[in-house]
Amino acid sequence: MIAFDEKQRIFKIDTRQSSYIIGIYRENYLLNLYYGAKIPDTNLWQRAKRSKSASFSPSNPNFDNEDFSTDVAPMEYSCNGSGDFGVSAFSVRNSDGNSVTDLRYVSHKIYKGKPDLGAMPCTYAAADEADTLEITTVDKVTGVEAVLIYTAFTKNGAIARSVKVTNKGKNPVDIERVFSACVDLPSADFDMITLYGRHAKERCVEKRPLGRGVQGIFSKRGVSGHSENPFAALTEKNADEDKGGVYGVNLVYSGNFEICAECDYSGTTRLIAGINPTDFLWHLEPEESFQTPEAVLVYTDKGLGEMSRIFHRLYLNNLIRGRYKSEKRPLLINNWEATSFDFDADKLVSFAERAKELGMDMLVMDDGWFGKRNDDTSSLGDWYVNEEKLPGGLGALIKRVNDLGLKFGIWFEPEMISPDSELYRAHPDWCVHVPNRDKSISRHQYVLDVSREDVRENIWAQMYHILSNYNIEYVKWDFNRNISEAGSAVLPPSRQKEFFHRFIMGTYDLMNRLTSTFPDILVENCSGGGGRFDPAMLCYSPQIWASDNTDPIERLTIQFGTSLCYPASTMGAHVSASRRTGYETKGNVALWGTFGYELDPNKLTEDEKTLVKEQVKEYHKYYDLIHYGDLYRLICPEENAYKCAWSFVSPDKNQALVTIVTMREDIGLLHILKLKGLDPDKFYTDEASGEVYSGGLLMNAGLNVSRMAEKTGESVKIFLTAN
Ligand code: DGJ
Repeated sequence: MIAFDEKQRIFKIDTRQSSYIIGIYRENYLLNLYYGAKIPDTNLWQRAKRSKSASFSPSNPNFDNEDFSTDVAPMEYSCNGSGDFGVSAFSVRNSDGNSVTDLRYVSHKIYKGKPDLGAMPCTYAAADEADTLEITTVDKVTGVEAVLIYTAFTKNGAIARSVKVTNKGKNPVDIERVFSACVDLPSADFDMITLYGRHAKERCVEKRPLGRGVQGIFSKRGVSGHSENPFAALTEKNADEDKGGVYGVNLVYSGNFEICAECDYSGTTRLIAGINPTDFLWHLEPEESFQTPEAVLVYTDKGLGEMSRIFHRLYLNNLIRGRYKSEKRPLLINNWEATSFDFDADKLVSFAERAKELGMDMLVMDDGWFGKRNDDTSSLGDWYVNEEKLPGGLGALIKRVNDLGLKFGIWFEPEMISPDSELYRAHPDWCVHVPNRDKSISRHQYVLDVSREDVRENIWAQMYHILSNYNIEYVKWDFNRNISEAGSAVLPPSRQKEFFHRFIMGTYDLMNRLTSTFPDILVENCSGGGGRFDPAMLCYSPQIWASDNTDPIERLTIQFGTSLCYPASTMGAHVSASRRTGYETKGNVALWGTFGYELDPNKLTEDEKTLVKEQVKEYHKYYDLIHYGDLYRLICPEENAYKCAWSFVSPDKNQALVTIVTMREDIGLLHILKLKGLDPDKFYTDEASGEVYSGGLLMNAGLNVSRMAEKTGESVKIFLTAN
């Protein structure tokens, strides 16, 4: 529910568990009065009073001696150059060449539902799921208008924010900074949690105390990237998995981003999230507009676990779209880890035969099927079949796979070009480059300039030819390098800094063509593992390959970290031939994700095959519980070196699946596992032992799991049902 109190000039944005409150101050400054647990009233002007003693804090000349300065006031959307010396959310360089920016309230509208953001991927909502507030602000000197858009997902609890800037003035301007969200909090007693990583070690949890000054994360790789995920949480000092105030922010964007928090001398914190201003400058002619990506904000006073569940439900209901939002996904086997580039049609068909015997649904042919690609040095951009490997072409191979009763999926890396390719020889200027500089090479490849319409047309025509001619039911969309020497041959010098954003909008355009032309194809995003695991990608692909690291023990930290904001059904997770644990643990860890296989099934022993058949049955048995249930992180790997555990609880609380993995054995240690999220008054039967326990007992007294999965790499599942 969103309300405007005309007398107090206060907006109140309520969700199930949070209130976000904005006031219109004298001369139409917009102030952030409150964001936190849901409160009934808005008597908050007292809270916004700040002493002007920061450091020569400037005043509005009309305010005489009033104790107000943009330097200290909790600004709703901080502007550069007009007295607010904190980190700016918004800065526009005007035709006089200065960057003084000063947005003030003009008007607003409140309506049911949620607007879509044009070509920008974003969340969506039915009229009864969300309310939206649009506050129109203007910089009166330039005429630049910024509409601050807030959508409250009233039952879910999240708030989505974005900004639409329109040049309503007579002269062109350049946007220097345009963040999606800015929140001023009257406390500096926070820890900051972010997800850092690298290839094969994505989304590790980093927790640090906020100190005075600016701290945060960013990407200037051209994609969201492996090294930082576009997510951050500010947690109150007493907060943990189950309690305490937590502010989470996740940016629905796959390009260069920045999320940072600035704490000042007075003990306030400003959090901003949006497009990274480095290498960004957007030119706006009169009447032109710029739409920012969306930032999703979640506040809860019930700790990180509840924050995650709010993100998960939002992404499952209001972000992921298409057939596989609700339809069961096929259980697939992918050949990459088993074969790399070394495969032919017969080998793939042998995979498909075994996969069928084991109960799987789909064979995915990974990298190496096109052009002359026998290793990673060539052919990206030449999306026609390599008939030496696949005689008779794709049609013959797919028929053989389909005849076995399996679906067929294929790999593309659409935004890339190998210097050794026909496409590069024909169009050497189509790769991302700038004049007079060497082009850095990475994995022997360059990036295609998909900000260009002609480049996109070519790549799309090639993809369309393949996808429209063959019975392909899944696409793995990969992206295996980052962007350096960024520029586009078709942009004028004054617009070169628009390149990065134009590039990612070009990617979205290609992905949109794919999903709208072929709505029945399941798309799995990937970027050297999980290097582009962000909410925007979930608008096109309901699942994203989480990491090239398929070792189940290594996967634990990756999956725990990923789960901070992304639901299980989005995490691409496969059982592979990695040797550190047995197949049981590989299966138990991969079940916390999309589940599939990444191995040569011809090499499985008879015992392993029996186990795989069991796992396939379990995949079906627990599918709904894992995909649509609530996740509870019970023991996180960074808190306990020996065992970690998680559980899924069905929405009606009648089922729970608990998984415990021993990362390091110590048989002397006592492990009492207290479950979460159950109904205290229901009685649950442990399927394996037949023992019956109340939910209250399981959550407060806990289960003694010391002797379960005792050895390093072992794991156990406990399935509980209430009747
Ligand atoms: C990186 C991906 O993460 C792998 O799964 C595989 O598809 C390779 N690329 C292929 O080059």
